[in-house]
Amino acid sequence: MTDKYAVIGNPIGHTKSPYIHGSFAASTGQDIDYSAIEGSLDHFADDLHAFRSAGGRGMNVTAPFKLQAFALATERLERAQLAGATNALKFEGDRIVADNFDGLGLTNDIQRNLGFALKGARMLVLGAGGAVRGALLPFLEQQPAVLVLANRTQGKADDLARQFAAHGKVEGCAYGDLSGEEFDIVINGTSASLRGELPPLPVEALQGARLAYELAYGKGLTPFLRLAQNAGVPRLADGVGMLVEQAAEAFAWWRGVRPDTRAVIDRMTIPLV
Ligand code: ATR
Repeated sequence: MTDKYAVIGNPIGHTKSPYIHGSFAASTGQDIDYSAIEGSLDHFADDLHAFRSAGGRGMNVTAPFKLQAFALATERLERAQLAGATNALKFEGDRIVADNFDGLGLTNDIQRNLGFALKGARMLVLGAGGAVRGALLPFLEQQPAVLVLANRTQGKADDLARQFAAHGKVEGCAYGDLSGEEFDIVINGTSASLRGELPPLPVEALQGARLAYELAYGKGLTPFLRLAQNAGVPRLADGVGMLVEQAAEAFAWWRGVRPDTRAVIDRMTIPLV
């Protein structure tokens, strides 16, 4: 029998998840049906339970439901607990198991696909919202030399740094503190690019960097990537690889088979111009 999966979000019209999981299913020979559900903003729990009752085996969860889904889970794996949010659920009988593959997808993309080791790297991460929070444990597990979190509201970066201090060397700061600092890898985890805005990052913080990574996907050369390009950063990337890699982790968790991601990433890549 065909097993049912879905992604739930609101809005959901532009989701690429059915395409990605459909490609994985075809390449691995798995018999699954993967659909997109526009969740109700007021009745998310009803939508989740309706999908389970109809035989759903698992769900990806996207904005704005990652926190609500986390709260509804009956079991929360460590990555989801530390992120305080889930992007993937597995339904097993009465159990709703929550994990979070966003950060792992990002580290896999940076290390395996782009070829930059995080071990020993000086990392600068911009932003201290949900997207960054979800990436911190997978980053720190790779043992960077230091991970600096810069945020417009410095208190949020400081709070996150304190919460993750047991997992590695992580420091919070304001953008103004970055003058004169050098980094190997700079990651924009703010939502600024979604509105065509630029975090107030001193350009010196990009000089000497080997990789500038924009978490947003499909926005072309965002103001952050343009700044990095002008600063001479040799490698620019957006979040397409992260999107496909997190999907591959969820697929492997659900199906026990890890799909190859290269061809899907290549088909989905939009040139950074
Ligand atoms: P997400 O789930 O995408 O992480 P979020 O939790 O609302 O969204 O967090 C958005 C992040 O982008 C925050 O770190 C925010 O900075 P503040 O904490 O100071 O609000 C950051 N952000 C959004 N727009 C920004 C801008 N124009 N310049 C700098 N930072 C910005």
